[in-house]
Amino acid sequence: TQDNKALFIIFGGTGDLAKRKLYPSLFRLFRKRAINKHFAVIGTARREWTNEHFREVVTDSIQELNPTPKELDSFTSHFYYQAHNVTNTQEYVTLEKLASELDDTYQLDGNRVFYLAMAPSFFGTIAQHIKSEHILSENGFNRLIIEKPFGTDYQTAKELNDSISAAFTEDQIFRIDHYLGKEMVQNISAIRFGNNIFESLWNHYYIDNVQITLAESLGVEERGGYYDKSGALKDMVQNHILQIVALLAMEPPTIFSDHAIRTEKISALESIRIYNEKEVKENFVRGQYSKGHLGSNQFPGYHEEKDVDPTSSTETFVAGKLMIDTFRWAGVPFYIRTGKRLTEKGTRINIVFKTTPINVFRSADQTEDIPENILTIYIQPTEGFSLTLNGKEIGSGFAMDPVKLNYRHSSETLENSPEAYEKLLLDCLKGDATNFTHWDEVAASWKIVDVIKHVWDKDNSNIPTYPARTMGPKEAFDLLENDGRSWVWEPDQWYREKE
Ligand code: BG6
Repeated sequence: TQDNKALFIIFGGTGDLAKRKLYPSLFRLFRKRAINKHFAVIGTARREWTNEHFREVVTDSIQELNPTPKELDSFTSHFYYQAHNVTNTQEYVTLEKLASELDDTYQLDGNRVFYLAMAPSFFGTIAQHIKSEHILSENGFNRLIIEKPFGTDYQTAKELNDSISAAFTEDQIFRIDHYLGKEMVQNISAIRFGNNIFESLWNHYYIDNVQITLAESLGVEERGGYYDKSGALKDMVQNHILQIVALLAMEPPTIFSDHAIRTEKISALESIRIYNEKEVKENFVRGQYSKGHLGSNQFPGYHEEKDVDPTSSTETFVAGKLMIDTFRWAGVPFYIRTGKRLTEKGTRINIVFKTTPINVFRSADQTEDIPENILTIYIQPTEGFSLTLNGKEIGSGFAMDPVKLNYRHSSETLENSPEAYEKLLLDCLKGDATNFTHWDEVAASWKIVDVIKHVWDKDNSNIPTYPARTMGPKEAFDLLENDGRSWVWEPDQWYREKE
């Protein structure tokens, strides 16, 4: 592997994200020598920490990866800390001084990655200071990585984008959606564009409907404060779900490059029908969990959660039907759903194919309909795919017997499979923006979500509830039943066996 050269300047270096994701990912890259001699990290945050203390924190954050003492020493020696108040101009001058020194010491060729791992309200200020205090290097690359939430609606997202655009151009901005780093989300393109048997059927002639479920079994945990202001629609649909829809619905790119792929994704997202008020009410449902149980385990309702307003009408569940107005997808519903405290954790895509034009087995002893072929993509917790085909039931007569061709990545492959953040960091070092969202994707997604939110906000009384650890409110099932369909969902057997 290539030893990528770069200085990482992490704003929010003492924070949770940095400790949980960034430092472990950097360490994995270090171990694989994707970064090695020529990298350095400056962690900044308000707190007054020494380099020594910072290195201890980094050490703690990578314990799980069982570093040897030698690896630890050499890895953490690349970490530097600088206390930093993001509004203080003078401190950017000090930061630049340290950055230039490290650039020399580690021979980084002036490559800089700015990582904003903190509240978005500071992004604009930081970007402006980076520009005005000349922290952008002149010889190497300058790249900015930012985290969600990217705005809270189209307007705030646009303001945020305008403010960072003052310092960085679109091709320097890497917007993280960690779902795009997941192995099986990336696999959507392999399944589609690497298999003619699927891609040639990937349209309204052969596909009846598409179902996307992002189910979580956890509640809001420690994030009640944030979540109560956000809700499932903004937290999961605006970003992760619409990204998955875009990957499933886009036209094939001419070549697998970031530019080609993102161009197609933008056009898919812009083709999603924007509903009027009546259509929003018909096609989108929300829900909130009430207390419930699974077996003998009891779970509190959303209103009882820490930092949640006990009268809150924030949705912890969304289900909806999206229509994509292209030749390819005319009339094919994309059903989506996501929620907290659902029965089990499971992220899955079901491509439900149309049944055969007629049932030639419709004889005396075979009156049942032929089951649909279903391609299921298991994104997590197990990773793989399955294809349901119809065979003949053993014995006399001629009844259909659906069989499942089932594939899962083995646990061995999984342990070596790079975590989302690790892959995304490496992509950024290589300048590959395929798995980052373009501003036009963000903009299109907010426009879809804003309309729904706007309709919901007009009437927040009596939103449907569902008992914790069930698959959402009745309304979410009615949504498909009204169309003569139902959610395809079975417990993940492979996952159960592992537990
Ligand atoms: C985050 C949301 O973006 O994704 C969380 O803010 C959610 O609410 C999380 O729990 C789910 O991510 P994953 O990788 O656990 O499926």
